[in-house]
Parts: sequence; structure tokens; C-alpha cells
Amino acid sequence: MVCELGQCDGSGWIEVDPTTARPCGCREIKARRAASRRLGTGIPKRFRGVGFDRKPIADMDQQLLRPIRGFVRNIGRNLDEGHGLWLYGDVGTGKTSIAMLVSKAVLEAGRSVAIYSMPRLLADIKETYEESSQRSYMQLFERLCGVDLLHIDDLGAEKRTEWVLEQLYAIVNERWQEQRSMVVTTNLIDPEELRAQIGARTVSRLTEMCVQIPLMGRDKRSAASDLEVAA
Ligand SMILES: Nc1ncnc2c1ncn2[C@@H]1O[C@H](COP(=O)(O)OP(=O)(O)O)[C@@H](O)[C@H]1O
Ligand SMILES: [Mg+2]
Repeated sequence: MVCELGQCDGSGWIEVDPTTARPCGCREIKARRAASRRLGTGIPKRFRGVGFDRKPIADMDQQLLRPIRGFVRNIGRNLDEGHGLWLYGDVGTGKTSIAMLVSKAVLEAGRSVAIYSMPRLLADIKETYEESSQRSYMQLFERLCGVDLLHIDDLGAEKRTEWVLEQLYAIVNERWQEQRSMVVTTNLIDPEELRAQIGARTVSRLTEMCVQIPLMGRDKRSAASDLEVAA
């Protein structure tokens, strides 16, 4: 290993005298980078170029995109007021692309975002239970609840267990209480199925926090629900 600051021998320690050493500044840089990697933050490579003028979003129904444009235009205010988006519909209708576009706008506005798929989120929570874990459950929970936007992709695609329902509710409820914004995508369209899969309490909180945007495929032009967010 090489020291990024060129100050130590790569071990993260600088020898003061033969019996003592002090920590090198590169230790903190490494720790910070590892923490942000673990948080699943940042836009995945495939979606980095996402934009209204690029495929697949450029090919989408412009009427359908209006509320999204409005949401992005007022991203700061929407975050401050805890408004979010709930994108639902069939596979391949652009949900993930739109959610990534919103997250990108959040980052460009200088605000923080954590992007997770449900399986990754659950794996990160489980990891905090390991004895070797670098952070506690509370540290992760506080980060998940502290970012300006929590973006969860493919909600409901995970295996449903009581533990999963509890984890999800704890996070969504905390963000709801603190009026912090969330963007979620899901293939679950039927409200009954949705409640069965992710829990009625969580659905109820998300419904309050998020404007629902149906994306049902090209041929079925679907109108977005009336917006209560700043547009
Ligand atoms: N950069 C891209 N250029 C062109 N098409 C893309 C790009 N990224 C995704 N797509 C396509 O756009 C469609 C919507 O993708 P996605 O946003 O992942 O939808 P969903 O999350 O609703 O399943 C898919 O058919 C996908 O293959
Ligand atoms: Mg998707």
C-alpha cells in the first residue's frame, strides 16, 4: 500500500522515535472513502449520464415527465419540506432511470443522497451485527436517516420476512417523523400486494411522504397523480 499523502510508508503510521508512532493523515482519508463506499452513495456507473435529454428518459411521454421536471427544478425546497417520489410500474418503464436522475440533481445541488437496492440495504444492516463490523447498527441507522435523500430502488423485490418489514419500517418511520425526503421505485402495482410485501404501516408512511408517479409502459399513457410538491 502507498500513502496518499506521501507521509508514511503505507502502513498508516509515522514513526516518531523507535518506540512510538503517530497516526498518518492518510488513515482518515481511507476510512472516509470506505465509509462512503459502504453507504452505497453515488450514482452507479450505468446511470451517471442520465438526463432528460438522453435515452431512455428522452423517449418517454413528456406529459408524464412534467411532475418529474417540476420536482427536480425545486429540488432544494422539496428536500427541505420532506417531499419525495414514489415511482411504480412494470419492469423496463424507466423507474430506476428517473430515480437516478433525481438523485443526480440532489448531488448537483450539493445535498447528500444514499442510493440503495433493498437487498443491499438489508445486507448492510446485517453486516453491522457482525463482531468484525466497522460500524454499529446505530451509526448506519443515523446515516440512513440523516442524508437529505434516501433513494431505495426496487422496493418489494426482497424476500419478505418479519425482520425485513421491521427494518424497513424503522427507517421509513424515522424519515417520516423528521420530514426527510425519499425516492422509491417498485414493480408492485396492486395496493394489496404492496401492503402484503412491504407492510401496511410502511406503505401508509410512504404514501404521505411521496407523490405517486405511475409508469405503466409506452402504450398505456398514464397520467401522473396531482402534485402537492413545489412545481
Ligand atoms: N443509458 C441507456 N440508454 C438507453 N436505454 C437505456 C439506458 N439505460 C436504461 N435503458 C433502458 O431503458 C428502459 C428503462 O430502464 P429502467 O430505468 O431500468 O427501468 P425500470 O427501473 O422501470 O425497470 C430499459 O428498457 C432499459 O434497458
Ligand atoms: Mg428498476
